Amino acid sequence: MAQREPTILLTDDQIAFYHEHGYLSIPAITTPEEVERLCDVYDRLFASRAGREKGDQFDLAGTDEEGKEASLPQILGPSQYAPELLDTQLRINADAMVKQLLGPEAGVGGDHAIFKPPFHGAETPWHQDEAYWDPKWLYNSLSIWVPFQPATLENGCLWFVPGSHRMEVLPHHSINHDPRIHGLEVEGADVSGAVACPLPAGGATFHHNRTLHYAGPNHSDIPRRAYIMGAGAPGKPYPGERRFPWNELKQTAREARAQTKS
Ligand code: NI
Repeated sequence: MAQREPTILLTDDQIAFYHEHGYLSIPAITTPEEVERLCDVYDRLFASRAGREKGDQFDLAGTDEEGKEASLPQILGPSQYAPELLDTQLRINADAMVKQLLGPEAGVGGDHAIFKPPFHGAETPWHQDEAYWDPKWLYNSLSIWVPFQPATLENGCLWFVPGSHRMEVLPHHSINHDPRIHGLEVEGADVSGAVACPLPAGGATFHHNRTLHYAGPNHSDIPRRAYIMGAGAPGKPYPGERRFPWNELKQTAREARAQTKS
């Protein structure tokens, strides 16, 4: 049974680093034993294609037709299909860290899982997470990215552009300009100062909702499993008019499945 109290907290230096650079990397967010257990749960979810029918499992980087192998399979809300993901020291520690970063009203919310198969995974192009969301809201949130095996340059660790969290949301488009593809790519951003964040299994990176980030393809012979938790404080209405036209154009197979099944 998971302990109820956090076992790892951020230092003042780590908190200051996050606010200055818009990202943070830590070597451990939970125990190695828990990472091993969660890794088995994760593999079971992808092997059973959990959430496929409801549109919660889909290909982030391809057109996602039935019978076609996904290049970047993703599950939205994996804890709906494996509730044991919610009763973890990982989540308790993550929730305490989010409160350290964003204040007492903040907490961990939804989760998702992005799987990069060995020798196969597509890259996750440069983007800001907020570009996927409703433009009517002003967000105060971050993502926590946890690999269940070491994340390396070879298998697709995350990269960040330090300080990019101070920018507005930049223009994005669907990958390959194909509105059938869920994934987004930023247009014309300067990523020359980007920093790679390799991690041990069970380490974590934190990034602000506007921080530019990227993950390379998986050139290794092991799967790259990333478990991601969204976290934040309540949003406020966005002051003024804002539109994300790249989302108004979407026609993904996942959205069609979600509309017919829910
Ligand atoms: Ni992202």
